[in-house]
Amino acid sequence: MNSHVGEDSPEEGRLVHLLVIGSSRGTGRSLVEQAIRAGHQVRGMVRDPEQASDLERVGATAVVGDLEGDLEHAFVDVDAVAFCAGSGSSTGPDATLRVDLHGAVRTVDCSLAQGIERYVMLSAISAGDPMRGRTQLRHYLAAKHAADRILLASGLQATVVRPGGLTDDPGTGRIALGNPQLPDRGSIPRADVAATMLACLELPATAGAAFEIISGDTPIESALHAL
Ligand SMILES: NC(=O)c1ccc[n+]([C@@H]2O[C@H](COP(=O)([O-])OP(=O)(O)OC[C@H]3O[C@@H](n4cnc5c(N)ncnc54)[C@H](OP(=O)(O)O)[C@@H]3O)[C@@H](O)[C@H]2O)c1
Repeated sequence: MNSHVGEDSPEEGRLVHLLVIGSSRGTGRSLVEQAIRAGHQVRGMVRDPEQASDLERVGATAVVGDLEGDLEHAFVDVDAVAFCAGSGSSTGPDATLRVDLHGAVRTVDCSLAQGIERYVMLSAISAGDPMRGRTQLRHYLAAKHAADRILLASGLQATVVRPGGLTDDPGTGRIALGNPQLPDRGSIPRADVAATMLACLELPATAGAAFEIISGDTPIESALHAL
């Protein structure tokens, strides 16, 4: 890396000021920690103010915002956005529409309004073709499909990462990538999904791409360079 935090746009090798949406746990939390270790300046959006100190302990700044409420202020003075939030598997279709679709689209609008150029979306395997997914997941996959398409058509430099089932296993740094689809379903550690999202932010050539990932044998950067 040969340049400085806060420079205009996240070209290859540049450090960025990154907003992570859905930073309290899971993939988003892993992305916060990995991005800080890589030298980026990170702002994590949380719903509960009590989650702020936990983020600050690892070197991030925290901003309180809600995909179903006020969030516009979170987008001021950042270079790039990573969307890692989700309504979760225990909520019904209503929350899926409010968070995974409408909330995601609001973040695209906020990014455009602030002149942010770079955006990486955590989507899901089969979101490119929701009818390929399990019946009980199709409403969720359709919401992700619509959000992904709106993002990719937005004019932002957007990358859509669609992982298989998420695990808390340690990251391996290696993935299998399907562009646009993988032949079979599989799983992948959240740490490897976060590492892939971070690598996308650091590789402008991934803008415009939507691809699926599961655990595999290919180093993340090599898989992305082959896109
Ligand atoms: N689970 C899987 O196997 C799987 C597979 C493929 C893709 N995905 C996608 O990956 C995403 C991340 O999964 P994960 O398991 O790593 O994380 P997760 O544990 O589902 O965490 C979701 C994050 O979203 C935040 N969030 C929820 N509603 C919000 C709202 N209204 N406004 C702002 N933030 C909100 C949560 O914050 P709070 O702490 O405030 O709740 C939390 O930080 C999922 O949501 C899903 O879309 C999941």
